[in-house]
Amino acid sequence: MTTTTGGTPPRLRLPFDLAGLDASPLRTERLVLRPIRPQDADDIHAYQRLPEVVVHLPWPLRDREAGGEHTELRAKQRTLTADGEAVALAVVLPGEPGLGGRGDERVIGDLTLILTSAAHAQVAVGWVLHPDFQGRGYAREAATALLDLATGLGAHRIAATVDAANEPSLALCARLGMRREATFRQDRHGDTGWRDTVIYALTREEWLAGRSAPAR
Ligand SMILES: CC(C)(COP(=O)(O)OP(=O)(O)OC[C@H]1O[C@@H](n2cnc3c(N)ncnc32)[C@H](O)[C@@H]1OP(=O)(O)O)[C@@H](O)C(=O)NCCC(=O)NCCS
Repeated sequence: MTTTTGGTPPRLRLPFDLAGLDASPLRTERLVLRPIRPQDADDIHAYQRLPEVVVHLPWPLRDREAGGEHTELRAKQRTLTADGEAVALAVVLPGEPGLGGRGDERVIGDLTLILTSAAHAQVAVGWVLHPDFQGRGYAREAATALLDLATGLGAHRIAATVDAANEPSLALCARLGMRREATFRQDRHGDTGWRDTVIYALTREEWLAGRSAPAR
């Protein structure tokens, strides 16, 4: 079935520049979300180096040097203008000492926002948390702010691509109210053989309706 909401072309407010979030980070009940910085490399490497974290991600296991280069690269990606571009936000827990002797705020994970189609106002999202901070609702809290950000930019549809064996991420998508739209059978080959991919998504209208509904 094809659904239409009129003939108005989708409008995604581009370019999206992270500069605004440097000056004014997103704040949730317990977290701060701001652009990733090169100085975050120790905190980020603490989860990038864990096999259980990368097992379902398109990330290799990185040593500290490779992790630092990766964080530096992501810190340089500051705008969304063209299809395929991505920006990363650090999930910061205030009051938690950072690794490498850094202050009293630790980067416990990160979020990715990918522009998949400017013409059709489509974005994709991704998330990762250090295992020490999983199971506390932080991913849901951070992802909620990310979906608010994406819909605020005018995204018409937000998708997440998840390994079919990644139960915590599938559960997070469901908790966010995303719809399980597709399963691609054996579309990737990993260390353990062929893998299935699940697509979750929701539209802007669905997200906004869920946000204004009474809390479940
Ligand atoms: C996917 C991932 C981010 C999910 O993290 P998470 O911490 O399980 O997700 P949530 O924030 O939704 O937390 C949910 C859990 O916290 C619990 N919780 C505790 N306090 C909570 C609170 N105040 N509010 C909400 N939930 C709370 C929930 O009951 C739930 O527990 P359960 O898993 O036993 O049911 C995490 O598993 C991860 O980083 N994985 C590795 C990287 C990865 O695979 N990323 C996804 C690629 S698609």
